[in-house]
Amino acid sequence: MSSYQTHEFDVLVIGAGGAGLRAAIEASSTGQSVGLICKSLLGKAHTVMAEGGMAAAMGNSDDRDDWSTHFADTMRGGQYLNDWRMAELHAKEAPARVRELEAWGAVFDRTQDGKINQRNFGGHKYRRLAHVGDRTGLEMIRTLQDHGIHQGFEVFMEYTVVELLKDGDRIAGAFAYERNHGRFHLFKAKAIILATGGVGRCYKITSNSWEGTGDGHALAYRAGAMMRDMEFLQFHPTGMVWPPSVRGILVTEGVRGEGGILQNSEGRRFMFDDIPDAYTHQTADNEEEGWRYIIGDKEARRPPELLTRDHVARCIVREVREGRGSPHGGVFLNIHWIKEQLKDGSEHIKKKLPSMYHQFMELGGVDITKESMEVGPTTHYVMGGIQVDSETQMSIVPGLFAAGECAGGLHGANRLGGNSLSDLVVFGKRAGEYAAKHAAEQSMPTIDAGRVEEIERHALRPFETGGDGENPFEIQHDLQDMMQERAGIVRTEENLSFALDALTGLRERAARARAYDNRDYNPGWHTALDLDNLLDVSEMIVRSAIERRESRGGHFHDDYPQKCEKHGTWNTVVRMKADGSMERSEQQIPAIREDLQAIIEENQK
Ligand code: FUM
Repeated sequence: MSSYQTHEFDVLVIGAGGAGLRAAIEASSTGQSVGLICKSLLGKAHTVMAEGGMAAAMGNSDDRDDWSTHFADTMRGGQYLNDWRMAELHAKEAPARVRELEAWGAVFDRTQDGKINQRNFGGHKYRRLAHVGDRTGLEMIRTLQDHGIHQGFEVFMEYTVVELLKDGDRIAGAFAYERNHGRFHLFKAKAIILATGGVGRCYKITSNSWEGTGDGHALAYRAGAMMRDMEFLQFHPTGMVWPPSVRGILVTEGVRGEGGILQNSEGRRFMFDDIPDAYTHQTADNEEEGWRYIIGDKEARRPPELLTRDHVARCIVREVREGRGSPHGGVFLNIHWIKEQLKDGSEHIKKKLPSMYHQFMELGGVDITKESMEVGPTTHYVMGGIQVDSETQMSIVPGLFAAGECAGGLHGANRLGGNSLSDLVVFGKRAGEYAAKHAAEQSMPTIDAGRVEEIERHALRPFETGGDGENPFEIQHDLQDMMQERAGIVRTEENLSFALDALTGLRERAARARAYDNRDYNPGWHTALDLDNLLDVSEMIVRSAIERRESRGGHFHDDYPQKCEKHGTWNTVVRMKADGSMERSEQQIPAIREDLQAIIEENQK
């Protein structure tokens, strides 16, 4: 057995995107010692893929907006499976978190009269997204990093946590390895905040970078936490589809927010073909109205391209399946049409969407001020995650907290674009505050050395696999293909059952995953270790999806294409049983507070 270095912190934060950084800042501000672990370099996080903005009812661009409308939009977008208290806190606290970022140096785009500008996004009734061109997530990370670095927390870059440790029922620490040299580290902590982001790497086509392997989801699950709503994945309607090497990279909803329209191979705006009743009052009645809608700061009515993401993604799949797609299996996203409406149209597009302009120019050779983009759905976000207390973000494991994408509840069955950035800072702050409070009341836990040895042995197993060992990259590739095909945007009973069986086979293969040479700079070994998490998360998704025999939000079941009222009364929960197997059950949604129900009804009129 090799040795490991031991570190002790009051609060350990795992994950350094928007939620992790905001949590670390908050916890440090209380005087507790804080360690922050990032899988990548500090600043490289999926947060930067929330490009188009941060939803907060500030009322700068439309003074009809307020927290209650934001709350009602979030609940309707989530098809009422949301944790309603989280949705309330989020809507109420988001404006303060935007102003705080501004005070810490974030340079938001401005309105003519100098306020923070807000743009349209799908499912939001009013112009609500504070933004920095199409680089809002990047600006958020830059700001939190610049501010955070002076707060005194210690950063461990390019470390990966393989398992959490417990002292009895309570959380006690985490065991990690350095990605560069493979050295092991034991982190003892009184409280741990998971902020590890999403699970996109379970799928073949995704906007998530290599880090998005569901680590926090799987770590929490194996530590005894309850996972909720794991069937709900968000397939963002617009990812790049061409060239193949960049397939899945995000094309921000900000393009549609700035007036971009979706067209099929016949040039038709197919989104007019299917406007759900619930949204009719928000959308243009006919193509004429839609074409007049736009531009810059002048707004008419909402175009159907800004319906919720689940709906737009399915309409794109329909066009492609019925033979009206683009040459490379997507549809066309056209922003260049607004040029004719504006004096300096090309410059306007480049100013509003600078990253998209460069992304398409450099990666695809497409000038978006002149040509349409080819786009199609990409796995972007998981609504499901660790079940947490709405106020404190603590899971059912004492001392284990979660914030951001790896926590479930806020978004229900479907997240509205822009609600992720506000989620990160609203609940990152709360997690930091309550984890620090919890830590202040605890003594340092005891670590079971035998358990650490066991974890270490498991982590080194890929080096000991014999000659019949399997290439971990191939297993990962086969898993991603299988999940894309069988548990993707449109699901069926047959495909989901197939997926469940396939996962058993993939687990057997993963147990024989082989790593070569030594622990220095060894991506094969890292991939072999990621497989445990990818497989646990994939199983949570499939088991949860099989039993939801209806279609709702990010779960579309072709055998049950309608919503079922009864299914709308519960959330799915998944837990690990004592024998290590996975148990799925249903949990009744608590009755909503009367004043919040009244707000929802008022907004449905
Ligand atoms: O399209 C986007 O800019 C993504 C935003 C989000 O996921 O919130």
